[in-house]
Amino acid sequence: MAKPSISWRERLAVDRVMRSGNLAQGIQVKEFESEFSQTVGGRPCVAVNSGTSGLHLSLLAAGIGKGDEVIVPSFTFAATGNSVALTGATPVFVDIDLETFNLSPSAVEAAITPRTRAIQPVHLYGLPANMPQITKLAAERDLLIFEDAAQAHLASIEGISVGQFGNFATFSFYPTKNMTSGEGGMIACENSKSARTCQLLRNQGMEKRYENEMIGFNTRMTDIHASIGRVQLKKLEKWTAKRQANASFLTENLSGVITPSVPIGFRHVYHQYTIRVEGHNRDQFADELFKRGIGSGVYYPKPTHTLPSFRLKLDLPNTQIACSQVLSLPVHPKLRQRDLEKIVRGVNEVANAGA
Ligand SMILES: Cc1ncc(COP(=O)(O)O)c(C=O)c1O
Repeated sequence: MAKPSISWRERLAVDRVMRSGNLAQGIQVKEFESEFSQTVGGRPCVAVNSGTSGLHLSLLAAGIGKGDEVIVPSFTFAATGNSVALTGATPVFVDIDLETFNLSPSAVEAAITPRTRAIQPVHLYGLPANMPQITKLAAERDLLIFEDAAQAHLASIEGISVGQFGNFATFSFYPTKNMTSGEGGMIACENSKSARTCQLLRNQGMEKRYENEMIGFNTRMTDIHASIGRVQLKKLEKWTAKRQANASFLTENLSGVITPSVPIGFRHVYHQYTIRVEGHNRDQFADELFKRGIGSGVYYPKPTHTLPSFRLKLDLPNTQIACSQVLSLPVHPKLRQRDLEKIVRGVNEVANAGA
């Protein structure tokens, strides 16, 4: 489904860092931040040790905490809601639009209370959330926006890349993502003041050694990880184009399943290519594909709000439908034409069996 693509270039970059003796956060991190910043319109970027840390630090940097509510989707990876809960604030889980799997702007609007401070939309599977409507709503109701762009490097709307819509945005470099640094995350900040607060939170509240200005963590990225990320970033555009070509082939040729729909002007970067198998038992469908030598994955089988960590009773019908019907097919850049044809043959056979 998703094997990271690592070449001699990444290995050489790591070896150089090893030989330099400078392993922790240093020049490689600084360069990685400045290079990544070019993908988010030049916004100041702060590298951290994971996407989860990035979300958490952004919320803390904006002063989100106890008594605040932050609106999040439930149909996402647990880190989205966890990062809010870890600040002491309450994640308010709302429903998605089934066509895009992303936050429903009308559900967001209905969930706003006097305690709402922010919205944390996820650009799920690499498709930007409905930022035109979400930013409008946030402006009208004086709310902050934290983009969870963990899966959406280089995704955009009308040519504006994700990472530029919110007050903060976080990307993940976990190995299954469209690019990796081993583990890692990047916060894109709207201004240098926010970036400085994130830098302080990342490093025990210190800019100057032993002159701690605030209470902070050690969530630094190492130069080893940054050196991998820098090499991967150079290949990201080419890999993204291949993911998009693979997705186009699948969408043109699959039948009997619901393929991803992309709103006009939106650039989907296909971290996942996710279909819905309506009218089938999804897990049996996946088993049948497996028998035909086709891997698939379920992201996500359970709504975050129902997990033992939250255990909430909420009525989010589209989220429930998505959890029971979604199936992600291989779309990574290493697929060959014959792999794509095999996927199409297998899915169409299973989807149309008995039809
Ligand atoms: C939507 C979403 N948010 C947040 C994260 C957290 O990123 P990380 O695994 O780098 O902490 C992930 C990654 O797995 C994710 O998919």
